[in-house]
Amino acid sequence: MLGPVALTSLGIGAIIGAGIFVMTGLAARDFAGPSLMLSFVLAGTGCALAALCYAEFASMIPVAGSAYTYAYATLGELMAWIIGWDLVLEYAIASCAVAHGWSHYLQAFLALFEVHLPPALTIDPMSAGPEVLAGAWRLGPVPIVFDLPAAAIVALLTAVLVVGIRESAGLNSLIVALKLGIVLFVIAAGLGHVDTANWRPFFHHEKGLAGTFQGAAYVFFAYIGFDSISTHAEEARNPERDVPIGILVSLALCTVLYIAVAGVLTGMVPYRQIDIDAPLAHAFASFGLPVATFIVAFGAVAGITSVLLVMMLSQARILLAMARDGLLPPGVFAAIHPRFRTPHRSTILVGAIVAVVAALLPLRVLAELVNIGTLFAFVVVCAAVLIMRYTRPDVPRPFRTPLVPLVPGLGVIANLTLMVALGWHNWARLAVWLVIGLVIYGGYGYHRSHFASVRVDR
Ligand code: ALA
Repeated sequence: MLGPVALTSLGIGAIIGAGIFVMTGLAARDFAGPSLMLSFVLAGTGCALAALCYAEFASMIPVAGSAYTYAYATLGELMAWIIGWDLVLEYAIASCAVAHGWSHYLQAFLALFEVHLPPALTIDPMSAGPEVLAGAWRLGPVPIVFDLPAAAIVALLTAVLVVGIRESAGLNSLIVALKLGIVLFVIAAGLGHVDTANWRPFFHHEKGLAGTFQGAAYVFFAYIGFDSISTHAEEARNPERDVPIGILVSLALCTVLYIAVAGVLTGMVPYRQIDIDAPLAHAFASFGLPVATFIVAFGAVAGITSVLLVMMLSQARILLAMARDGLLPPGVFAAIHPRFRTPHRSTILVGAIVAVVAALLPLRVLAELVNIGTLFAFVVVCAAVLIMRYTRPDVPRPFRTPLVPLVPGLGVIANLTLMVALGWHNWARLAVWLVIGLVIYGGYGYHRSHFASVRVDR
């Protein structure tokens, strides 16, 4: 049985990954400058408000699940499908982005030993410059350009997930300790190299305050994963109390660490020169510190691997729940391997798609898509908590979101603001995604679901 400490540790295991190790670079250089510290506060605030609403949902239905399960039981099937489909962005597409980050740090790590992979096999075709394209092998007229390490790690982890990995709280604690150790190391070892002159100007020279918000919308990615704590509600000793504690404590801890890392990074390197592939490793490398670079690159590779594993595992679980409710074909998504007892088909399908997408699409596009999808889910959850207080006051809520309507109301506003900061093109991508989802629902789930079997009041 899991207590509050174990749940918090699971949360941190799922949260700290490519976001802080990789995306801080682009967010500081292109959007926020040193005000990235403030961006982390903004993004963390939106998440905390949403987390308080997630916690109410999680306590109403303390079963293994996610926003999808809560939505199914409380909001009805259509909203459940929309959220479940949206969560594919949060988990599967996020896995693609995380795999990119993993690849970047692996390359930074190998470079310490003068090992360099062919450039055409370390980048997606859309980001490859003319030199890379010219130097690539060819298949007829088509240059072969893809991110091989990203695809390879996804393939490897897919195999691990098919054979089955017992989620062990002990192993997780070890990985979390390693990750926290690395982040604290970055802060402690980097502090001595901070030049406060690099914090001026505080805001990005071209983007100003708007860039701080854009940076927040981008590094929001670094917080994704805290909601996975609620998927452990069934194993919790006292889910009504401990799940909310786990969510809020892990979020608070990560916010503090992220602000400190952003401060150190932008203090060590003038923000216009920050590397966007492996920014933390390069910051130390630029000071000629190979041992520190080694520690950071190694820790990042290990830490990002654990996030990728959790994300892919969670995706298979959500698809399994959706298939059991009749919204997806059970033959694929609810099939359990006779020997390994894992949802092998769905895991392999997800793994194959994640590997291909990670290899071929740019990190920035992926990250923005994940963020807008997840922010949308947060807005829905916050709005749902608010609405259900009026429409369904009778349902027992062991954990009640405090200060309703203020907290969920601000949650809607904060997360909508970040969505706006992502720009209209990401709204368009989200709309296309949701329309595809609705077409699938209309063609399949609408006719086959067994909605009536799960209701919160039964
Ligand atoms: N928050 C997770 C990460 O940063 C998704 O990798």
